[in-house]
This record gives sequence, structure tokens and C-alpha cells, in this order.
Amino acid sequence: MILGVNIDHVATLREARKGADPEPVMAATLAVLGGADGITVHLREDRRHINDRDLRLLREMVPVELNLEMAATDEMVRIALEVKPDMVTLVPEKRQELTTEGGLDVSGQKEHVKETVRRLHESGIPVSLFINPRIMDVDISRETGADMVEIHTGLYSNAKGEKQKDELRRVVDAVKVACKLELLANAGHGLNYFNVRNIAAIEGIRGLYIGHSIISRAVFIGLERAVREMKELIAVV
Ligand code: PXP
Repeated sequence: MILGVNIDHVATLREARKGADPEPVMAATLAVLGGADGITVHLREDRRHINDRDLRLLREMVPVELNLEMAATDEMVRIALEVKPDMVTLVPEKRQELTTEGGLDVSGQKEHVKETVRRLHESGIPVSLFINPRIMDVDISRETGADMVEIHTGLYSNAKGEKQKDELRRVVDAVKVACKLELLANAGHGLNYFNVRNIAAIEGIRGLYIGHSIISRAVFIGLERAVREMKELIAVV
């Protein structure tokens, strides 16, 4: 099971003072020492956390899979083609949101997503689509030519009791269909040390992309250990 660690929050902390600390490259290095299989950053249109310089440095320094999360805009595609991350995850992006709130509207933007996937593929960059746990969205993702999907686990993560079981079922079904369609299936958003095991246990799932809970724990116990604990949790299942 691959663990991709999202280090955007380290850059958010740096931007709180607009200074040099903490350094995202340092965070990436420690995450890798803790066992991260990948490092994820979201380059936002407003550069509110990760910026272009971070991305360039990370491309040089990260020895594991560098996953660039981005909106499907011309500007971002141009940057991706220059920097050549190991994979791109296309996400919807609204300026006002605190974090990525929903999955991509793959049905409404199918042709645009397809064209974006094609442009990235031309440079040999594998593409993942961050989608809601809906069978129809998995089917459409396949039609865009994407290599992978990342199933949005936000609703599962926020739900409790029976409602959470329902949400889990939706994620399981979406992963099942993705595997049947030969799309690599990942999951992420809102996963933490308490709710991650049900998702890690889903048959066929390739990897989990986790940020907030790991960085939060790292404040108290250090990043290397926080990543190692998450790796152990998702591997035991
Ligand atoms: N996957 C995607 C596509 C995301 O946008 C985010 C949030 O940046 C994550 C995973 C990680 O979510 P969290 O920070 O809640 O673990």
C-alpha cells in the first residue's frame, strides 16, 4: 500500500509569516525517512501555500513519487510539462475553499479533462483524477484516458456510525469498478489515524494520499514518526 504524504500544510505555516520556515523540502525529506512512498503538493492558482520555487526544488530533491495536484488549467499544464512530476492529480479548485471540497465534475467537463490528460500523456506524465465515490464518475474517468482515480473519502471521513458505513460502501464500490476497468485506484481526503484502516483494507486499492492528520500529529511527535505510524497502520490490515 502506497502512502503519499501531502506537505501543503508545511508551506501554509511558512506563509503565515511569509518567511523561510518551515521548509517544505525538509518536510519531504523527513517524510521519506519515515517511509513515505510519495510526496504530494497542490500548486494553487493563488499560490497560497506551495509555490513554483517549492515545486522546482521538490522535483530535484524528492527521491520518491512526486505527485502534483492541480486544476486542469493551461497555466498548470504548462508548469507540469516543464517540471515533469511523476504523476499529476487533477482536482477542482475554488479560490474560497479551505481545502479541495468535492471531486472533479468529470461528467460536466469530460472533453476538457480528456484533452488535459492527452496533453500530459504526450510528455509521459501519468494522470489521476480526484473524483467522488460514484460509479458513473469512475466510468467517465476511464473514458478520459486517465491512468488512475483517487476516490474522495471526505464524506466517509466526516460521517459517523451507520452513515459512515454507507459512505464506506460507496468508496468500496467505486474502487471495485475502477479495478474492473483497469484504472489504478487510490483514495484520500480526511483520512486520519482512526478512520484509515477501513479504507486501507479495501481490496485492490493502490495507495492513500494523506496530509492534514499526519502534519497535525507531526507537530507533537515529529514528521518522521508521524509518517511511520501511518505506514504501520495501513500496512497491518
Ligand atoms: N487528496 C486530494 C486530491 C486532496 O486535495 C487532499 C487535500 O489537499 C488530500 C488528498 C489530503 O487530504 P487531507 O489533508 O485531508 O489528508
